[in-house]
Amino acid sequence: MTAAPAPLAIDAQRLQSEIDAIAQISEAAPPAVTRIIFSEADQKARAWLRAKCTEAKLTIREDAIGNMFARWQGADANAPAVATGSHIDAIPNAGKYDGVVGVLGGLEAIRALQRASFRPSRSIELLLFTSEEPTRFGIGCLGSRLLSGTMEASAAQQLTGADGKSLDQARHAAGFTGNLATSVLKPNHYYAFVELHIEQGPLLEQAEVPLGIVESIAAPASFEIILEGSGGHAGSTLMPVRKDALCAAAEVILAIENATKNSGSTDTVATVGICNVFPGAVNSIPSRVRLTLDLRDTDLARRDQTFRDIRRSAERVGQKRGIAVEFITINADSPATCSPVVTDALTRACAKHNLPFQKMVSRAYHDSLFMSRIAPTAMLFIPSHKGYSHRPDEYSSREDIARGALVLAETLADLSR
Ligand code: HGY
Ligand code: MN
Ligand code: MN
Repeated sequence: MTAAPAPLAIDAQRLQSEIDAIAQISEAAPPAVTRIIFSEADQKARAWLRAKCTEAKLTIREDAIGNMFARWQGADANAPAVATGSHIDAIPNAGKYDGVVGVLGGLEAIRALQRASFRPSRSIELLLFTSEEPTRFGIGCLGSRLLSGTMEASAAQQLTGADGKSLDQARHAAGFTGNLATSVLKPNHYYAFVELHIEQGPLLEQAEVPLGIVESIAAPASFEIILEGSGGHAGSTLMPVRKDALCAAAEVILAIENATKNSGSTDTVATVGICNVFPGAVNSIPSRVRLTLDLRDTDLARRDQTFRDIRRSAERVGQKRGIAVEFITINADSPATCSPVVTDALTRACAKHNLPFQKMVSRAYHDSLFMSRIAPTAMLFIPSHKGYSHRPDEYSSREDIARGALVLAETLADLSR
């Protein structure tokens, strides 16, 4: 008679201490976290994580872009595995929970199943995705785009980082020298994918609900807007003859806000996060401005209509001011619908532990957006204090994190039986 498996329990203290430990591996002073892809901090954090996965007796492989796959071999070695995971790269001046909760919560979920003497039939794989954040190469989810075949290797090789180094130069320097085309996985490679993540919004905390089961992920798009005017001396160039690119940019930014607020839904959001001014001298009229536009919506058609409205308004500003306005598309992705295969397993897991949850939309994008292209996928959210994220005061409680890891562990067990 085999002993009944021990009850499933998350080591909340250990999980919190690991989140605190990886937060120290950063290019920013605490409480801020900055961990740019392939930076020294990123490479140290990857080495730290590899050691943790080895300690948990997971077998590790890394692909040509640096996606990491830590595998707990199941009894049925040929069955498509169940996967979980997220990212550990962090934008400048970020918090310590975005992405990390999904990676370390996934590791602790696996360890809890091991401690409970669970034996998976399907293998369970913990994934660390490369470059979920767009900071260095200008596009988010680089690792999961390549892994899902959403981005061709040849397109990725055109990318250049903010430091002028190409993607190939940066990844080779970090030790990832394989052929990028080998990163792509077949659509049936995984049986299912589930990602634990902080909500990065205020809804769960406001509703006093500890868990969110994500049913869809909003459609992200990002663009560069280049405005070319003519420069000149700040003193001797009179106002009527100026073609000031920054004044034009100011009108375009307000036109973006106006078009988005008038899209017909608050699900449409737009952000101009970067404004580069050339030549950037106090006594020289800006001749060139580069803006970035991040535009998202849960509804693809509405997002694209808002973009057309924005472009039309910007072109009108350009004609009025004699400024050339160019739009360059960086990415324009479709939204994701999560799979009932995974949302039902998450629902069963919450029910098993009498944990309330609410169904949600993810307004942030995640690697799950691209994993949904090749596997049944869903996400599990835990509350973010005041909805803060991408800022040092991002916070999720130890109890919420442990609850999320517990439901994740139950879901992985459910899907891998
Ligand atoms: O921007 C996003 O939605 C994600 O946090 N990178
Ligand atoms: Mn993020
Ligand atoms: Mn994230």
